[in-house]
Amino acid sequence: MNSFGGKWTIDKIEVFIRYLKAYMQILKKYPNWPLLYFDGFAGSGEIQTNEDEVNLMEGVACRVLKLTEPRAFDLFYFVEKDLDKASKLKAIIDIQFPNIQNKFVSWGDCNDKLLSLAAFLRKNENRNYRGIVFIDPYGMQVNWESIEALKGFHLDLWILVPTGSAVNRLLCRKKISPENWFKSLGLFFGVSPDDIKDRFYKPSKQLNLFEESELRKIDRAVDEAAMLYKERLKTVFKYVSNPLELRNSKNNIIFHFFMASNVEVAMKIANDIVKTSNR
Ligand SMILES: C[S@@+](CC[C@H](N)C(=O)[O-])C[C@H]1O[C@@H](n2cnc3c(N)ncnc32)[C@H](O)[C@@H]1O
Repeated sequence: MNSFGGKWTIDKIEVFIRYLKAYMQILKKYPNWPLLYFDGFAGSGEIQTNEDEVNLMEGVACRVLKLTEPRAFDLFYFVEKDLDKASKLKAIIDIQFPNIQNKFVSWGDCNDKLLSLAAFLRKNENRNYRGIVFIDPYGMQVNWESIEALKGFHLDLWILVPTGSAVNRLLCRKKISPENWFKSLGLFFGVSPDDIKDRFYKPSKQLNLFEESELRKIDRAVDEAAMLYKERLKTVFKYVSNPLELRNSKNNIIFHFFMASNVEVAMKIANDIVKTSNR
């Protein structure tokens, strides 16, 4: 079962559901456009809010399947890499939503399925599809090339970027990170390992014993990571929202939650929702 991260888990879900409701208000005017929902990290259908598995919260999948007014999605595609969780999700949604036909749970890796989604949308008969892609990982599981595959489609992407929880941890402060960590960060951001190094490390003003300047990690690396991801999203989508900052109990940012779209009004709606939630 998926476990509850903290209040930020609730904030993330509420912002996302508020956006979907606003999205449906607009899309109800276009009944000829079929709507798809793609959830790349779907979970087990339930979120465990304490250790003894007694208190359970509904996961995003069920919340989205329940949205029927002013219109519903026509096709639901849920991806989950853990077989037990995928089976549990399928059982839950089959019992709770027997009348929804076009719902599929796929056991696999989100990266592969994003490429399959792009291949599906490229087909002539599917070119009218509009849709939402929800990417809700714990860490840096999504490679940049999978996000890049979404270029040019009528999709709005909501993506949780682990700026504080994963990216920042791979950027050592006391010494420079190992090369393979820069390589992982490069795959995640879609830039070279050297670009990552240049962006997050600067020569120190103090010289060492040999009068050389050593590289030092920049301050505010988490904000810089969010800025870099936003820049990268802007190479795929025309508009990227301001991010929702999700913080842990120590008030440190662990994730930035972005919306990206090719429609300006979509970004404006996302910005309004994020603004009221970031307060
Ligand atoms: C944060 S949880 C998702 C929670 C879910 N959105 C919900 O509302 O309950 C992340 C999920 O992604 C799954 N996962 C991890 N790596 C994955 C991958 N590469 N592809 C697809 N799913 C993955 C994990 O097993 C976990 O269930």
